Amino acid sequence: MPTPELARVSRRVLITGGAGFVGSHVADAHIARGDRVWIMDDLSSGRSTNVPSRADFIEMDIAGPRVRELICDVGFDLINHHAAQIDVRASVADPIADARTNIVGLINILEAAREAGTRRVVFVSSGGVVYGEPEVYPTPESAPKRPVSPYGVSKLAGEHYLDSFREVHGLECAVLRYGNVYGPRQDPHGEAGVVAIFCNRLIDGQPLDIYGDGEQTRDYVYAEDVATANLIAADMPLEDGAGIDARAFNVGTGEATSVNTLATLLEEIAGARPGRTHRDARPGELRRSVLSTARIRAMGWSPAHTLREGLARTFRHIAAERAAGTA
Ligand SMILES: NC(=O)c1ccc[n+]([C@@H]2O[C@H](COP(=O)([O-])OP(=O)(O)OC[C@H]3O[C@@H](n4cnc5c(N)ncnc54)[C@H](O)[C@@H]3O)[C@@H](O)[C@H]2O)c1
Repeated sequence: MPTPELARVSRRVLITGGAGFVGSHVADAHIARGDRVWIMDDLSSGRSTNVPSRADFIEMDIAGPRVRELICDVGFDLINHHAAQIDVRASVADPIADARTNIVGLINILEAAREAGTRRVVFVSSGGVVYGEPEVYPTPESAPKRPVSPYGVSKLAGEHYLDSFREVHGLECAVLRYGNVYGPRQDPHGEAGVVAIFCNRLIDGQPLDIYGDGEQTRDYVYAEDVATANLIAADMPLEDGAGIDARAFNVGTGEATSVNTLATLLEEIAGARPGRTHRDARPGELRRSVLSTARIRAMGWSPAHTLREGLARTFRHIAAERAAGTA
């Protein structure tokens, strides 16, 4: 738990990728806490409308040459690193572009943080990809890491870079490995946003696409709860032990939900059943993914929203945006 002094102090926080889906919720949470927030984003998939009005926005590529100068000039207490290329299929099609953002961009940020004397870096990894197809459910942080896609490899490489900067330069680093985050502002066109996709299909009266038998499971966690986990990661005490798992925390609910269950819940919330279209299973798709969350819960975090509540809030948000023509 944060010390009482840290919990009171307003910090200077840089959130990379803060114009994106999850990063913008994290920005909201830091602002609500009283922190001064800067957002660095190149708007490659993020939207300027996601940037909170009380944040300073810097349109910049994290892998670019001006990053170090900026980070040294402002002198952030905390860097929260959400900017990333997040599309698994894009990483397969162009692994060099994936590595440029997810590895070179991260190193650029870490080099700047080291030079500027930033107190802590929080890095976002993925519990859905770094473990590959796990042997143990719910999967603990210590499980073997077997990423398959270049995206998974770049996220795991990022964790190792953080560990190297901690070991070599003494940079304080925490890693959050997310389950499947859903909530307002998720891109309905990306491959990851099944909740956003289903909500839009239900609003349009279109059938829901189910790949394979629909019994594949994921650990769905609401974006506002993920943002709270980021606040905890900003201050929590970190172990000194060697290795990437010592400072890594899964962020999920610990509950496995199938795509079929998700579809049923959303149909109930929408009050519509436009039907389902069954499609071939997607090659390489994980069968099961659910995370053990004991470590982050021991730090005082737990999800504040049930899946039904989170889905209902997400559906209402998307429906309101669609009605207002701002989606
Ligand atoms: N959404 C999930 O379920 C999930 C699960 C696990 C991990 N994550 C991680 O969470 C983070 C945020 O994901 P998201 O779902 O919000 O995706 P997102 O695409 O909405 O957010 C990523 C943001 O990074 C920005 N960005 C990309 N390349 C950049 C660059 N070179 N320079 C500056 N900005 C750049 C994009 O414009 C975007 O705003 C990512 O690191 C992702 O790997 C997300």
